[in-house]
Amino acid sequence: MDSHALDAIIARYDVPDGRLLGILSEVQEQEGYIPHDVLVMLSEKLGVRLSRLYSLVTFYSFFSLQPVGEHMITVCMGTACHVKGAEMVLSALGKHLGIETGMAQDGKFAVTTEDNKFTVTIARCFGACSMAPVLSVDGNLYGYATPENLPAILAEFGWREHES
Ligand code: FES
Repeated sequence: MDSHALDAIIARYDVPDGRLLGILSEVQEQEGYIPHDVLVMLSEKLGVRLSRLYSLVTFYSFFSLQPVGEHMITVCMGTACHVKGAEMVLSALGKHLGIETGMAQDGKFAVTTEDNKFTVTIARCFGACSMAPVLSVDGNLYGYATPENLPAILAEFGWREHES
């Protein structure tokens, strides 16, 4: 994203309340993540400390500081899902996609496959606890997830067993 594109976004958010979040959301939408150089430009253009921008981006789980894959998988690690085996689902997901999921307790956990097709992250509750364990792919919720039914879910998004 260049400086002019960022100016155009800034111009759309000239009301003080929620201004930063609105701008950051639009950057995230356009770029797929929040690049460091955009944060630096934003800091200079708005006179907001870079540390403040970083604290906002790291506080809200929908912002990412890294490029994300074509499909975003979010595994719920809330209490109900945890009790029903979310950890096993996450671990199986890691095996299928060939990624490391061992640091899943980190609040900002996000791992992207080498081919950039999938990014896996975690959430605390989707409000669908009766279907625990729950995961979402590109915003579509899948309840009663198990290591066994994961391949069928992933296949809907172009994953094939031999690719793992
Ligand atoms: S704890 Fe997973 S949906 Fe509520």
